[in-house]
Amino acid sequence: MQTTNSIMIKWQSPQVERGCVQYSLNSSQKKVCEDKESRYHSISIKNLEEGRTYSYNVQSKSLEIDNMHRSFTTLNSDLNKTQNIWIMGDSGELGKGQKEVYTAMQIYMQGKSLDLWILLGDNAYSSGSQKQYNTSFFEPYKDLLKTTVPWAVIGNHDARRWAFYDIFDFPLQGESGGISSGTEKFYALEQGNIHILMLDSETTDLSKDGEMAQWLQKDLKANTKKWTIAILHHPPYTDGGHSSDDPFDSHSRFSLNGKLFSIRENIVPILEKYDVDLVYSGHSHVYERSKLIHKHYGTSDSFDINKHIVQDNEKKYCKSLDSKPFGGTIYTVTGSAAKLDHGALSHPALPFAYEKLGSVILRVQSHSLTSSFINNEGLVQDQFILYKKKDCSSL
Ligand SMILES: [Fe+2]
Repeated sequence: MQTTNSIMIKWQSPQVERGCVQYSLNSSQKKVCEDKESRYHSISIKNLEEGRTYSYNVQSKSLEIDNMHRSFTTLNSDLNKTQNIWIMGDSGELGKGQKEVYTAMQIYMQGKSLDLWILLGDNAYSSGSQKQYNTSFFEPYKDLLKTTVPWAVIGNHDARRWAFYDIFDFPLQGESGGISSGTEKFYALEQGNIHILMLDSETTDLSKDGEMAQWLQKDLKANTKKWTIAILHHPPYTDGGHSSDDPFDSHSRFSLNGKLFSIRENIVPILEKYDVDLVYSGHSHVYERSKLIHKHYGTSDSFDINKHIVQDNEKKYCKSLDSKPFGGTIYTVTGSAAKLDHGALSHPALPFAYEKLGSVILRVQSHSLTSSFINNEGLVQDQFILYKKKDCSSL
């Protein structure tokens, strides 16, 4: 977990022991040690400078730690800084596909560091156990984990075991931006001029007046950032392995309808009311993307291009700063960071759809954001730009 002035470093060791973290910025070096011995280590470093990169090393006797090139960076509130965000979905299967997608992202970034790393859930198949997280997440991504904080939402496979909330610590009190949710299940995260909603579509009630919907309304009402992005494992629209036309797809214990239906009917109207710009999900192991759309709460046969498409462009969209609310939202399913599903890919709201391994780099600048789907061969398979300005007529 990171905030603008703190960072939390977590690790586990084979023996019960007291761990320390030594960190430095420029030439000033400090050290924090734990009060108690444990196998589960968690050190919170406070009073840090905003948006700065500190080098650090972890000291834990029973564990052999590679401390070369370890650093962390605090969150920043610089409204004009370009932010590069890696969004990967359903990455939890160790293998060639996972490696290719990871390598393709690194090559695309050309050595530039990521400002955020977002995991769309199902990060360790098949049950999200600690052992599976070690094999399918910590080992393959170990170099990136040395420098970059992974921010996750829970997937259905993560929820099969209890390791998820041992591995990750999330803000309860709005420490990383936004309104306090009082739970680690859903929370907000802010970086630069971006407000990100990290939602739980797996274990939380998705009804209109459920606790997450109530928090969402409060949080979005208070949001002052220019760009707002919602992240959740289950997509409201998909035809790529999972089907958002099937009321029983991804069964929920809270409702007769499955999760995809509940999100579309109950959560999407709230996101639209507060003009959320982008929604990213995984769960279907494909890539699917909409145009700028709104007010589509039914099955795919009720999608009406005249009613539901706000801008019928392929790659360029613009939202006016003056026309809130209902400026429209672009929905992306990107759940193919490690494995592929077969699907008809025929949802009319998602015309840009590929059965292809890959992940998304979202580059946010002061007046525009660019979302690029980088496939496992390193090619940009889909890309769109969303501008936000006073007057969109010049586009
Ligand atoms: Fe899933």
